[in-house]
Amino acid sequence: MRISVTGMGYLGAVHAASMASLGHEVVGVDVDAQKVDALALGKAPFFEPGLDELLAGVVASGALEVTTEPSAVAGCQVHFVCVGTPQASASGAADLRFVDAAMAALVDHLGPDDLVVGKSTVPVGTAARLATYLAAAHPAATLAWNPEFLREGFAVEDTLRPDRIVYGVPDGEAGERATALLDAVYAQALDDGAPRIVTDYPTAELVKVAANSFLATKISFINAMAELCEVAGGDVTQLADAIGYDPRIGRRFLNSGLGFGGGCLPKDIRAFMARADELGAGDAVAFLGEVDRVNGRRRARMVDLATEVLGGSVVGARITVLGAAFKPDSDDVRDSPALDVAARLRALGARVTVCDPQAVANARTKQPDLHYEVDVETALTGADAVLLLTEWRQFRQLDPVRAGELVAHRTVLDGRNALDRDAWTAAGWAYRALGRR
Ligand code: UDX
Repeated sequence: MRISVTGMGYLGAVHAASMASLGHEVVGVDVDAQKVDALALGKAPFFEPGLDELLAGVVASGALEVTTEPSAVAGCQVHFVCVGTPQASASGAADLRFVDAAMAALVDHLGPDDLVVGKSTVPVGTAARLATYLAAAHPAATLAWNPEFLREGFAVEDTLRPDRIVYGVPDGEAGERATALLDAVYAQALDDGAPRIVTDYPTAELVKVAANSFLATKISFINAMAELCEVAGGDVTQLADAIGYDPRIGRRFLNSGLGFGGGCLPKDIRAFMARADELGAGDAVAFLGEVDRVNGRRRARMVDLATEVLGGSVVGARITVLGAAFKPDSDDVRDSPALDVAARLRALGARVTVCDPQAVANARTKQPDLHYEVDVETALTGADAVLLLTEWRQFRQLDPVRAGELVAHRTVLDGRNALDRDAWTAAGWAYRALGRR
């Protein structure tokens, strides 16, 4: 099929490259010329495992073309909208400017009965509004909403082998046609057995925010248990293991530590609360406010713990922060708990060095006043305290004996409960973690 994808960010670039790798002819469009130039050369403009390899193949074969020219979408049958919906600055609501601009750019170049497919995470009600807008310009065109569930770091795998596919479509013949077209786009995944749910617009929109709200709640639940473990002298990692054996609870996404960040979970739960308020159903998701507050408290607790182990003040202390990305295998620093803690410690007077294998360039743009090192041994040298805040494999596998030879004081704070406590203690380190004795 001939497919266009508007928005070449973490979602759109992976979607475009993946669809091209499945045999579709894909045109990717973005307003950012720098991004487009990189992609046109087969290079991902951000770090995502497996994406460079995928891009190189589909750009070389001509299956993927990337451009800043909006008219390049003409002739495609299916048009995906994959632009961002960031948090509006003052309120928690989603900022829909990019979605509206993408739709406006598309309508000028659509064929009369094309299918437009929204993938961006939007407040419930957006699809119905955009369908009306589309119908005014092209009465025979159809809008579908097809939320995306990819995780950064596993984006290619999640796109090629999704654990479910959701279509929000209008009633009647238009919905049947949209379903048939999307089935053709996702033929491979459907053949592989991916479950498909065909529903209405509001359900499709809500599925996405409900999923992210559930995941955020799961993390804040275990971090709330960590707060209790801290005051009662318990161990949250053992508690998570023990409750996780119950298959109704499950151990996945139950890792306690510094909490969640990134471009999705924090802003999605805030936008959900804002939209529920508008709909007069704010009470239904008021608990997400508590989920957000528990999450925020983990960062404050980490700063307090650092202050405590440094004798009551961080002023002048050399602190090495391992991790800047919001999670491992990503260079994304949007709402990164690690970078937030590093900045807070610096603001309190610490001499902070931040080390990350991929995210230093993005982190520097956001927090230019922090000191950065890519090499972990250089970063550790002379440290008074080491804080593991993003659990990259290379940090989890650090040799505590070698690391101990580099630092000034063997004090480690494990913000992700990711280090082998016994090995670090045996190497002479004072080991502290969130939610553990
Ligand atoms: C998330 C959803 O998982 C994905 O389905 C959706 O499409 C987009 O949002 P992502 O933001 O890429 O994906 O990261 P995810 O792996 O979900 O992690 C989110 C945050 O939670 C990270 O900061 C991570 O460190 C944290 N986390 C995750 C925990 O603190 N504990 C856990 O057990 C799992």
